[in-house]
Amino acid sequence: MDLNKRILEPSLMEDDEFLEYYEYNRHIGLDKQDGVAKAVAKLCKNFNSGKVLDIGCGIANVPIYLAQQFESSFIVGIDASEKAIEFGKGLVKEHYMNDRIVLSKAHLPYENFWHKKKDFNLVFSRSALHHFANPLDFWYTVKDNLKEDGSVFVLDLIRPETSERAARLVYDRFKGEVNKPIARAFYNSLCAAHRAKEVKEHLEIVSLLPMKILVNSEIHIIIYR
Ligand SMILES: C[S@@+](CC[C@H](N)C(=O)[O-])C[C@H]1O[C@@H](n2cnc3c(N)ncnc32)[C@H](O)[C@@H]1O
Repeated sequence: MDLNKRILEPSLMEDDEFLEYYEYNRHIGLDKQDGVAKAVAKLCKNFNSGKVLDIGCGIANVPIYLAQQFESSFIVGIDASEKAIEFGKGLVKEHYMNDRIVLSKAHLPYENFWHKKKDFNLVFSRSALHHFANPLDFWYTVKDNLKEDGSVFVLDLIRPETSERAARLVYDRFKGEVNKPIARAFYNSLCAAHRAKEVKEHLEIVSLLPMKILVNSEIHIIIYR
């Protein structure tokens, strides 16, 4: 089946997906988040300190590494999931980062984000854009919170041409575990993701240009400046 249109997935993960995703990140993949923080340092040349907003921060595994990479930064993480925020607060405490990272539940665009507008030096997000039914809600949140000369780093998936290709990509990654909730969630995420051309159109609509769009692999896109 062709995937000309996105197949939306829910904002919030089901309980079993949630536990697998977050336990995986917490116990196995936590150190891998370091690479994301290094990619921010490499691509967002104008950013080295200040306030960071992480949209859809999950359990705050990336913010912890961002805080380590950028020693003079203060990070606000927001996420629609109360559970993720609670997990995240525990992780932040374990890493003695309470004074550097603040987490808050906000289901965008329905729950207002409390923070003062347009005062973030960097707006960051990983793997949250494709969860938004209307991507413009995501991009307006970026725009409304970003300083005029602020940096942006958004990493997300790319929707494959067909559902068969999406299934193959899931198989390549999960092999014999394709029926696990985390593998199904990955398949759904691929089907809900955007293509580079669509992202460019969205950025034009919200007037969030100039922005660079890097197709980093068959499944990963980075939108940054
Ligand atoms: C795939 S997880 C990524 C979590 C984290 N950024 C990471 O890379 O590990 C996507 C996150 O986006 C959050 N999310 C999805 N839709 C959202 C919305 N409308 N508002 C706020 N958070 C949202 C979900 O609750 C989930 O924690």
